[in-house]
Parts: sequence; structure tokens; C-alpha cells
Amino acid sequence: MSETPWTGDVAVIGLGYIGLPTSAALAMHGVKVMGVDINARTVAAVQAGQVPIVEPDLDVAVAGAVARGTLTASTEVPQADAFMIAVPTPFQDGYEPDLSYVKAATQAIAPQLRGGEIVILESTSPPGTTLKISEWLAAARPDLTFPHQDAEHPSVNVAHCPERVLPGRIMVEIVANDRVVGGITPGCAARAAEVYEVFCKGQIVLTDAASAEMAKLVENSFRDVNIAFANELAHICEHLDLDVWEIISLANHHPRVNVLNPGPGVGGHCIAVDPWFIVAAAPEHAQLIRKAREVNDARPGEVVQRVRGLMAPNEKPVALLGLAFKADIDDLRESPAVEIVKELAAAEPNRRLLVVEPHVDFLPLELSAIKNVELTALGTALAESEVVALLVDHRRFSDLPAEALANKSVLDTRGAWRGRA
Ligand SMILES: NC(=O)c1ccc[n+]([C@@H]2O[C@H](COP(=O)([O-])OP(=O)(O)OC[C@H]3O[C@@H](n4cnc5c(N)ncnc54)[C@H](O)[C@@H]3O)[C@@H](O)[C@H]2O)c1
Repeated sequence: MSETPWTGDVAVIGLGYIGLPTSAALAMHGVKVMGVDINARTVAAVQAGQVPIVEPDLDVAVAGAVARGTLTASTEVPQADAFMIAVPTPFQDGYEPDLSYVKAATQAIAPQLRGGEIVILESTSPPGTTLKISEWLAAARPDLTFPHQDAEHPSVNVAHCPERVLPGRIMVEIVANDRVVGGITPGCAARAAEVYEVFCKGQIVLTDAASAEMAKLVENSFRDVNIAFANELAHICEHLDLDVWEIISLANHHPRVNVLNPGPGVGGHCIAVDPWFIVAAAPEHAQLIRKAREVNDARPGEVVQRVRGLMAPNEKPVALLGLAFKADIDDLRESPAVEIVKELAAAEPNRRLLVVEPHVDFLPLELSAIKNVELTALGTALAESEVVALLVDHRRFSDLPAEALANKSVLDTRGAWRGRA
């Protein structure tokens, strides 16, 4: 623990699934936070104490902090004592990391520096990105010194603190999880840790910036490789006409075996993306990590073939339950369910696909233009369809009584109806 608790102002750049909860967590502890986003609608919502995303308990935290005056929002980066960058880090064509958002955020911070600040990268990033931030800032502000130039007494400190929260439990985990804080120098790490000590009850572990960057990528690659193992087992068991859920539950009786659940693929902003950053950094060496990505990316196509196998040669629509990338959230990014709907619509252009996603009001752009795809209420989809495919185990789907699925051909990609339908 630092002996000097953090008392400065914080500017959080990017008010999405990570930046807004982080802003709220700091502001709830009395820190003055200015949230910054290039999306004017997001800024207007936060200014009004509202939350533009679905995440349990975030609405209460944001409304409370805005009412107390500790959280404000703007489209312009202000002067502050700490800057936290929580902007997207997607990949481009060819799975190369796209650091353009991080660079834009850095360039918006540069003119506001006076000396004495800490700049913290929260976005998941390939090794070397935090160093690049230090270099970009130095290029923009030759009047200041940065830690890659002056390790002992830089005017501005630069560090990385990756986020590892679980969507749906962000407000709990943002406080409870351990945090890895990696500095360009040990001094940078110690300075950044002071900010996290305000709200983090987990252990704060200090390291260097590149190790912190790589550790975050390793966490998500570990998950991806293990899910790929379960998904490959599911594919093999489908071929051998065996029940993969039964086999995994039997194997997991071994005291040192814990096979994960298979599913329709891997989605979201993290696990489906971050392993590619390792592959891009060491393409010759990251063979298993690349293969796991390929196995998981092939899974939606396998599900499409199984749904088609259930379809009778008639005109009856097919019900597809869920679009989000995991249960009980509204996040559709990289969602395998979206991919399945898209691929099935292309393979069966004359079949109505009745999509049920209770967490969204509109289909995403990539589906809304497809004429045989409709966003439908659950009751309508079940009433009109003979084939029902569960793509996401949202609680209201898992809880469906067995009678609701009577006389249907069912594909349960999540094992949620196992033993019932
Ligand atoms: N969502 C998660 O569960 C999760 C978990 C761990 C790590 N991460 C990482 O955190 C980072 C942010 O992810 P997210 O889910 O919050 O993304 P998000 O898309 O929900 O939010 C990013 C926000 O940044 C804004 N933005 C983009 N460029 C900007 C700029 N130059 N200046 C100001 N605002 C800008 C966008 O408008 C958006 O509101 C990513 O690197 C992601 O990989 C996310």
C-alpha cells in the first residue's frame, strides 16, 4: 500500500464497458472524475446520470456519482492528474492489432500535460504498446520528459493496468479482482498503483509494462485454448454420436481434470480477439494459440450445419434464441450467435429465421439488412417454429419449461436444457 493515498483528479478516456465502471468506481470513492468519449450521445447520457450499456449496478453507481458531482463527462480531454485510457483495441484485416484508438487518445492527452501526471493504459494491448504511448507523448511534447527517456525523474509517468472483469459482474469484480500494474519504470508502476488503491480491494501486483501487457493476453489465450479443447470434443462427439456433456461430466470426476463447457463458438471483445495479439507478436511460435482461435472460429459453421440437419423440407421458420456473446448481457461484439444467424440466413435464403434477443431492441446492422432474419418475441418464435436452436443461455431461455419445447426439434448449443427437452 502506498503511504500517500491518491487525491488528484482523473480523466478516463473512453466511457464503454471498462471506462464507465472505472470512472464510477473512482467517483464513488470521492475522486473527481471527468469521463471523456468521442461519442456525444454517450457523453450526454453520462452527463444526465444515465448509462448507455446494460451492466448490473452500474446505473445506480453512475447516477449517484453524477448527483454528488464527482463524475462529469465531456467530449474534450481536460487537464487532470491521472489519465486512464480505456478505448477499443480491435484487430484489423489479417489479425494485426489496431492501435489507432490508443494513439488518438494519447494524442488528445498530450496537449493537456503540465508535468507530474500519470498516464495509464487500461486497454488490452500487445507487448510494447505502453512504451509506444511514452514515445508518442514525447514526440508531441518535447518540452517534457518521459520514462523511456529519463527513468529516474520523468515529468510524466506511464504505466499499463489491464482489466480482467467479467461482463455481468463488472461492478463486483472491478473492486474485488487482483490488479497487475506494469510501469515503464518501477516508479511509474508505484504511481499508477496509487490510483487503483482508491477502489481496488484485491491485491495490486507491480511489474514492468510489457509483462503486464503479455500477462493479460495470456489470461485470455488460456481461456481460448481450453474452450477450443471443449469445442473440439463437442465436434468429435457429434461425429461419433456421443453426448459431449455426459463425457465431460464423467471426465471431470478425475481430481485433476476440469474440462470447460463447449458452446457455439467464442465471442466478445476479449477472448476472441486478444490471442491474435500474441500470434501477431510471435507468428512462428504461437502455433497452439493460433489453432485454438481457428477451432473456435469454425464452431459457428458447425452449428449451422447441425441446425440445417434438423430442418424438414417445409417452409416453417426456425427459432434462434440469443444473439449476445454470453448469457444475460447485451454485448453482441464478435458474438458467435450473430455469425450463426448470418451464415444460416445465407445458406437458407428462403427460410424465415426468428431471432429472439430480449436484451436488444434492434437487430445489429449486419443482420438487419438480411430479409429473412426477424427480431421476434420468444412466444411468437416458439409458436411458429418446428426447429429451435438455443445459441445463448440467457436465464429466461434456460428456465423455459420442458412443455414449451414439446414436439420441437431442438439444438441446445449450451447444454442448458440437458435432460429436459
Ligand atoms: N468489455 C470487457 O469486458 C473488457 C474486459 C477487459 C478488457 N477490455 C479491454 O478494455 C478496452 C475497452 O473495452 P470496452 O469494452 O470498454 O470498449 P467499448 O467499445 O465498450 O468502449 C470504448 C469507448 O471508447 C470510446 N472511444 C474510442 N476512441 C476514443 C477516443 N479517441 N477518445 C475518447 N473515447 C474514445 C468509444 O466511443 C467507446 O465509448 C479494450 O481494449 C478491451 O479489450 C474489455
